[in-house]
Amino acid sequence: MKTKLQKARDFENKYLKHLNPADQPRFHVTGGVGWINDPNGFSVYKGEYHLFFQYYPYDTKWGTMHWGHVKTNDFVHWERLPCALAPDEYPDKDGCFSGSATELPDGRQLLMYTGNRNTRRKNGSVVSTQTQCLAVGDGIDYVKYEHNPVLDAKDLPEGGSPIDFRDPKLWFEDGKFWAVVGNRAADKSGSILLFESENGFEWRFASVLASCHNQFGKMWECPDFFELEGKHVLLTSPQDMTSMGLEFHPGNSTLCIIGRYDREKLHLMRDNTQTVDYGTDFYAMQTLKAKDGRRIMIAWMQSWETSGCKVQKLPFFGQMSLPRELTIRDGKLIQNPVREIESFRKTKVSYKGVMITDETNLQGVSGRFIDMTVTVRPGNSRQMYRYFKLNVAKDGERVTTIRHKPENNTIRVDRSRSGFPHDIVNVRDFPITAKDELKLRIIMDRYSLELFVNDGEQAASFVIYTPVTADSITFSADGAAIIDVEKYDIEV
Ligand code: FRU
Repeated sequence: MKTKLQKARDFENKYLKHLNPADQPRFHVTGGVGWINDPNGFSVYKGEYHLFFQYYPYDTKWGTMHWGHVKTNDFVHWERLPCALAPDEYPDKDGCFSGSATELPDGRQLLMYTGNRNTRRKNGSVVSTQTQCLAVGDGIDYVKYEHNPVLDAKDLPEGGSPIDFRDPKLWFEDGKFWAVVGNRAADKSGSILLFESENGFEWRFASVLASCHNQFGKMWECPDFFELEGKHVLLTSPQDMTSMGLEFHPGNSTLCIIGRYDREKLHLMRDNTQTVDYGTDFYAMQTLKAKDGRRIMIAWMQSWETSGCKVQKLPFFGQMSLPRELTIRDGKLIQNPVREIESFRKTKVSYKGVMITDETNLQGVSGRFIDMTVTVRPGNSRQMYRYFKLNVAKDGERVTTIRHKPENNTIRVDRSRSGFPHDIVNVRDFPITAKDELKLRIIMDRYSLELFVNDGEQAASFVIYTPVTADSITFSADGAAIIDVEKYDIEV
């Protein structure tokens, strides 16, 4: 009988060759066919960058999770590899959930993932059991570890729930393997557990690295933990978040905690908390340390809330963000597009010191596959503009707007006219820091807009479905603004 993995690979072989490039983003990862969610196993293996992802090849909706697989050398071109994991063993029979990867000293690649197994209760409800499992491979084919699971209910601290115990992120440090795993603690909210292992196969509980205490959402999914410029960063994606002013948004949100790591107690002490991405579509981010030392993050560029909103008849659903370089400035996380994207910039169009009042378009400034930076200063030294607007993906009917309002120092992105025929969240407002000039960098691909404000102080990602024929770009101001524009097409 054909194995589940073979079935998935045969399906890929059959359908992936018929993909229409005009349906796919140019430089953002999708599954090609089927559904994807969280990035998994984003790591260096034998000198190349591997990315796995939550994957259901057979439909454009979430199903029993497999792991899809791609690799890259430049974070822009991704080579598709065969499906890596299928839910074919007892502990993962209802899904190979999120996890991570690292290279073993003997040159094999170690994957650690959550095995999800459902049981039906007498009253008909389904309850899941989540355990941590391993698979070992050569960068293409993986064999599940015979002693799976390696972490289960008995490894949890008192009161830890085996129903919500998932998304291990592995790394090797100081001669040991470590993993952070999300868990729902006795107080019903999230905690991040730290586990350790000498050889990568036998694991034991080490500490509770950080706890939510019902303060930032509930269950903390998809943790990642790493050192960055002398600080320690914990990234996690909380469920059931409530907003705090303009920070965070309700539902599945993103959280960055920057702090100090107490290596004796194996505990993270918080200095700062912040939203990772202010857009509508960003979740479950994961990082790797690049060969040159950069910390690079990728995320699922989609929201769970709108994962049923399908617009065009596309063979795939879900895409990854453009990878971002992370740094710290003034104690805060800074995100900028991976610098490799700059090698794919073509046809530079630039303007300096253009006065904007009424809606204006500038010769040569248009396009839908673009990397564009707009720098905005007040046009009148005695009076600040009341707002400045940048309109993209525009035609007679459609437009996506980025508006700066200095009065309360916010940016509003509005995608209400960006191709969605659904009554969904289309507008996000977020705070920025007042400066003499405002810098907006936007990167657009076929179905997305990623915005970086003031050299990465804020980032905001949005899925849009505006047809690419809507490629006008205009500027306007209430009052007067002076702008510089540098626009490139991205050709990959
Ligand atoms: C987050 C998540 C993870 C889980 C996976 C299942 O988006 O819920 O916690 O491992 O998706 O697909």
